Amino acid sequence: MAEGRRRERRRSPLLWAAVAAFILVVDASFVEDLDDSFKENRKDDIWLVDFYAPWCGHCKKLEPVWNEVGKEMGSTGSPVKVGKMDATSYSSIASEFGVRGYPTIKLLKGDLAYNYRGPRTKDDIVEFANRVAGPIIRPLPSQQMFEHVQKRHRVFFLYIGGESPLKEKYIEVASELIVYTYFFSASEEILPEYVTLPEMPAVIVFKDGTYFVYDEYEDGDLSSWISKERFQGYLNVDGFTLYELGDTGKLVAIAIIDDKNTSVEHIRLKSIMQDVAKNYRDHFHRSFQFGHMDGNEYMNSLLMDDLKIPTIVVLNTSNQQYFLPHKPIESTEDMVQFINEILEGTAEAHGGDGILQRIKRIIYDAKSTVGSVFKSSPLLGCFLFGLPLGVISIMCYGICMADSDGRLDEVDASKKESTGRELTDEGTEEEQEEENSENRLEFPGGEEEQKTIFEKKKD
Ligand SMILES: *[C@@H]1O[C@H](CO)[C@@H](O)[C@H](O)[C@H]1NC(C)=O
Ligand SMILES: *[C@@H]1O[C@H](CO)[C@@H](O)[C@H](O)[C@H]1NC(C)=O
Repeated sequence: MAEGRRRERRRSPLLWAAVAAFILVVDASFVEDLDDSFKENRKDDIWLVDFYAPWCGHCKKLEPVWNEVGKEMGSTGSPVKVGKMDATSYSSIASEFGVRGYPTIKLLKGDLAYNYRGPRTKDDIVEFANRVAGPIIRPLPSQQMFEHVQKRHRVFFLYIGGESPLKEKYIEVASELIVYTYFFSASEEILPEYVTLPEMPAVIVFKDGTYFVYDEYEDGDLSSWISKERFQGYLNVDGFTLYELGDTGKLVAIAIIDDKNTSVEHIRLKSIMQDVAKNYRDHFHRSFQFGHMDGNEYMNSLLMDDLKIPTIVVLNTSNQQYFLPHKPIESTEDMVQFINEILEGTAEAHGGDGILQRIKRIIYDAKSTVGSVFKSSPLLGCFLFGLPLGVISIMCYGICMADSDGRLDEVDASKKESTGRELTDEGTEEEQEEENSENRLEFPGGEEEQKTIFEKKKD
């Protein structure tokens, strides 16, 4: 008896070690838990890090996805290391990296930090990590490579020529905008015959089955040209795309339809938009982006309106105004006329960013069930930066707390946040956004997103 028990006791540490090893292999082998030492140890590697808070429900939702990301990066032999950091335990490091909400996903490469703001799916995150971790400018040595790239990417940029000030500028812009799209360089010989360049060197965007050449005099600054041209001419718009389109400062013309409805009204509206996007590009592409959106729910909560599908709405992303056609749009000519009325200023504008609209927004949000707006939002998160006390922090707290244990780390973190400066260089847009957010209420999740669609470009 006694001997048997002793043997059992001896066995158990081994057993535990085996169990622990098993858990490590299954669960965490590809995602490293990061701590204080990360700041010193990270320098030589490229890291993809999830900064999370244990109490944040959106972080919990990301966790299984994150393990999948770790597994995929590990098994494909990617040089990117995947880690996660409890930003409430290591809040000073997190704030040095500019973490303002949870979860925050960043790719850290030397002195640069790139924020991930896309959909939180494994494929999207892995694609982002591989794109940003790779060379900023990818060389295209042959025509086959060019064709391969053209098949794979719906939009990409290409520099043609040798060393030049334009190339320097291209590299500079690409090192910031690599978070959104792909940049290549090549010599003229690899281009297909249909491409003719007015001069060399040149920057070209390939998209929509054709190509467009950057013209410094007409298009202005290379960076803003790339920011605008990185979208296809016609888009299937969702909340996330709309948020991103806010960067372009363009007017966004959207057919609001039911994608599954095969009746002529829905199909026609979509094809009218496609027609205008394609055949009137020269007239309108500098100030307009075209697309359609499936369903009217998102748009109605954004505009606080009651649009019936199918319809067309044109949003001014700079001042929160929107335009509705005063008569049904039944042909391309109708749509072109509507656009011209908007450009001439004769179309009636709704909404806007005045004080009355802001008050309406607060009342609207209080009335609508908070959940339904946030559920469809692609940038869900627990925001803690500059949270005003009172209703909003209670809202955030309520949404973020998956299991309440009464800790209020976010207050602590936000205090540190406001004093700590960014350790890393994230480009001017980031800084501008940071400044804006000091002057406005920060709402959690969807609300934050809806505000910034319009407010980003204001200052
Ligand atoms: C399709 O749209 C038409 C017109 O808007 C509407 O009358 C019809 O009920 C819709 N059909 C379905 C299946 O939703
Ligand atoms: C969109 O908003 C901006 C900023 O207020 C304004 O300058 C511009 O004229 C507006 N565009 C239209 C077509 O109303």
